[in-house]
Amino acid sequence: MKEKPLTNSRQFDKIKTVISKTSKIAVTGKGGAGKSTISASLSIFLSKKGKDVWLIDCDPDANLATILGYPYPDKLQPIVELKEIIQERTLTKNSGSVPFFKMNPDVSDIPEKFSVEHNGVHLMLMGKMKPAKGGCFCPENAFVKSLISHLLLKENEVVIMDMEAGIEHLSRGTASAVDVMLIITEPSFSSIETTKRILTLAKQLNIKKVLLIANKIHNDRDRDFITNKFSENIVLFIPYNTELEKNRGVIDSDNKILDKEMEKIISYLEENK
Ligand SMILES: Nc1ncnc2c1ncn2[C@@H]1O[C@H](COP(=O)(O)OP(=O)(O)O)[C@@H](O)[C@H]1O
Ligand SMILES: [Mg+2]
Repeated sequence: MKEKPLTNSRQFDKIKTVISKTSKIAVTGKGGAGKSTISASLSIFLSKKGKDVWLIDCDPDANLATILGYPYPDKLQPIVELKEIIQERTLTKNSGSVPFFKMNPDVSDIPEKFSVEHNGVHLMLMGKMKPAKGGCFCPENAFVKSLISHLLLKENEVVIMDMEAGIEHLSRGTASAVDVMLIITEPSFSSIETTKRILTLAKQLNIKKVLLIANKIHNDRDRDFITNKFSENIVLFIPYNTELEKNRGVIDSDNKILDKEMEKIISYLEENK
């Protein structure tokens, strides 16, 4: 599929309801492909456009705080490690191994209490989720799902989830809260392999919209390499950008390096609601 032309920016500014119907975005892909860089860039970009952005680091090897240039990354408490609160809210305190728990625990106070705001972006750390094998839906997963659903109740909010490599840990429940999945791929055989695996899983999980983003493209050879592997879904090619290296991987609020590309993603989503 051909890349869509860039919407002219005046037209873009007029779009008041940017991604109104697609406000839960999960970013996936092989480790190193650029998930966190793109999650951070998209967050900063949307925040500057007036969106209330909630960025959730769902990678156990979390480093979004650092990528955003947040000076106290250790201050963030992983949500799945809030044992007491999760037990209390899912009614599993003192219940031993009883298999029943509250599926829709109250989480309304959690975002404010356990997030930090930096450069207009609310950042939360999810911690290590349990694998969702065989439809397992443990209290932690119920808690996370409630949290993600809750975050979307308010208008003007966008949730961006930077996932761990692969999406094996996603349960149907959590996946149902995802509107758009961006799969970041780079021109290497291993990245292509992971991308194919994620595409299959996303289909099984019934994710509504799955878009492929080819990152770190040096030249036409890279572009052709990826295009030949996927006949559809590719919506954007992001060039390899040495500016990112100069910045040591940090995407702070002054950073406009990937703004054009982020604008293309949003325009695409806006046009394909
Ligand atoms: N388009 C790009 N051009 C150059 N370097 C990039 C690009 N996208 C990402 N990177 C770099 O690649 C490395 C891995 O990116 P990162 O976002 O941490 O990957 P992931 O979160 O998928 O593991 C980082 O050093 C980042 O700065
Ligand atoms: Mg990452």
